[in-house]
Amino acid sequence: MKTDLLINGNRRTLDADNRTSLLDALRHHLGLTGAKKGCDHGQCGACTVLINGRRINACLTLACMHDGDEITTIEGLGSAEALSPMQRAFVNHDGFQCGYCTPGQICSATAMLEEIEAGWPSHVTADMTAKPSLDEHEIGERMSGNLCRCAAYPNIVDAIRDAAWRDQE
Ligand code: FES
Ligand code: FES
Repeated sequence: MKTDLLINGNRRTLDADNRTSLLDALRHHLGLTGAKKGCDHGQCGACTVLINGRRINACLTLACMHDGDEITTIEGLGSAEALSPMQRAFVNHDGFQCGYCTPGQICSATAMLEEIEAGWPSHVTADMTAKPSLDEHEIGERMSGNLCRCAAYPNIVDAIRDAAWRDQE
């Protein structure tokens, strides 16, 4: 089945078996290996990408379900020459060790800040009428779908706070 995708601003046509996950389509058919395969079962978040601005585990969705959708991977957030604010913050705060979870962490954190900006509450938001804060509990809850086996969590939280703070400048 042919599927038209807008990936990182480029129109791509995928011609693959209908059972191909979006993650396998990106990595094996379209040459975008930034999103990682950790578990392939929706448990680790290493494969997180953005679809129409919202985060999703690319291993849990079929590519053919996204005809016409706008997909952003870590490659589309920024480049080595022009890092996105979140990418820059991860570098500045050492928000990784091996780096395997990092593309997923950064895609997830980028969308997460937009969710907070839109006022979406999480499971731990105390005051549902106020803009959610960026305390450790909120960030921990909202990033709980992204595991880091190197346990770089404290630095990841610092990086996210830094990026959020720079957003408001
Ligand atoms: S590879 Fe998709 S959640 Fe682990
Ligand atoms: S930096 Fe190694 S798994 Fe997160």
